Amino acid sequence: EWAERGAAKIIQESINPETGQKMRHVVKKGIKDFKFGEMLGDGAYSTVMLATSNDSGKKYAVKVLNKEYLIRQKKVKYVNIEKLALQRLNNSRSIIRLFFTFQDEASLYFLLEYAPNGDLLSLMKKFGSLNEECCCYYGAQIIDAIKFMHSKGIIHRDIKPENILLDKDMKVKITDFGTAKILDNKPPGTSYDLLTRSKSFVGTAEYVSPELLNDNYTDARSDIWAFGCIVFQMIAGKPPFKATNEYLTFQKVMKVQYAFTAGFPTVVRDLVKRILIKAPEQRLTIEAIEKHHFFRSKNFQDSSIWNDPAPEIQPYKI
Ligand code: ADE
Repeated sequence: EWAERGAAKIIQESINPETGQKMRHVVKKGIKDFKFGEMLGDGAYSTVMLATSNDSGKKYAVKVLNKEYLIRQKKVKYVNIEKLALQRLNNSRSIIRLFFTFQDEASLYFLLEYAPNGDLLSLMKKFGSLNEECCCYYGAQIIDAIKFMHSKGIIHRDIKPENILLDKDMKVKITDFGTAKILDNKPPGTSYDLLTRSKSFVGTAEYVSPELLNDNYTDARSDIWAFGCIVFQMIAGKPPFKATNEYLTFQKVMKVQYAFTAGFPTVVRDLVKRILIKAPEQRLTIEAIEKHHFFRSKNFQDSSIWNDPAPEIQPYKI
């Protein structure tokens, strides 16, 4: 059933030379249509590889999921969530696109947009940290991407630098929706109740919100918490809550125990302080973040944050 609903259907039209009638053939894409290349990423349940279309030469990132493993580990639900979330968010400049899905005996395949500049974690590791201009450039796109997902009723729940990919122009593309919360579809023009609390799981220790650890509940404001952690990390070069093991990291998160690194710029400090607040209702909202002084050079009403060229990457220096 997954195959039938998910299969990429390319409809080719041709003219029958005998009758002159138009004919339609359904041609399904399959692995035979792609050349597989280098490994791009590796997750607990999937492997992402470069794939090149034999027809067009276009490059994709193909996420390969082993069916037997998914069934054994009871993760089939998450694959369906990822597909549904990507389909609802399709055609957005800030979200990785899903082009085709198909399967064979052993695996499920997601043909995703390829982001040739890797992820934000690798970028930060390479440069150690990012200066205020870079932090502002990537931060503006990340918060705009979160705003878009939330407007479509999708809460990501595992926002972290590894899930923030960079396209050929160094523009942000969010990926990995396997742990997303998909709110019931609403007609256009109506808004989603993003404060509906949902029972949750633990994403990644360093970016997990205190409400999840304390009450086992999350809502859209948990994505904002993760955003605050990422802004801190871009400047400091390390996440605000980090310890030798997960348990100790959780302790720090629950107590909101973190310290700014020496010379951490005042304006970014102010922003982070207003986001990394234990009570979700006291945290800055997306609208308030966009109006914060740190983003004063950014106009979120037009497309400029997506059209402006990327700044030269430089680490933060005091
Ligand atoms: N790693 C994981 N997903 C990727 C993608 N879509 N593009 C490039 N690298 C990736």
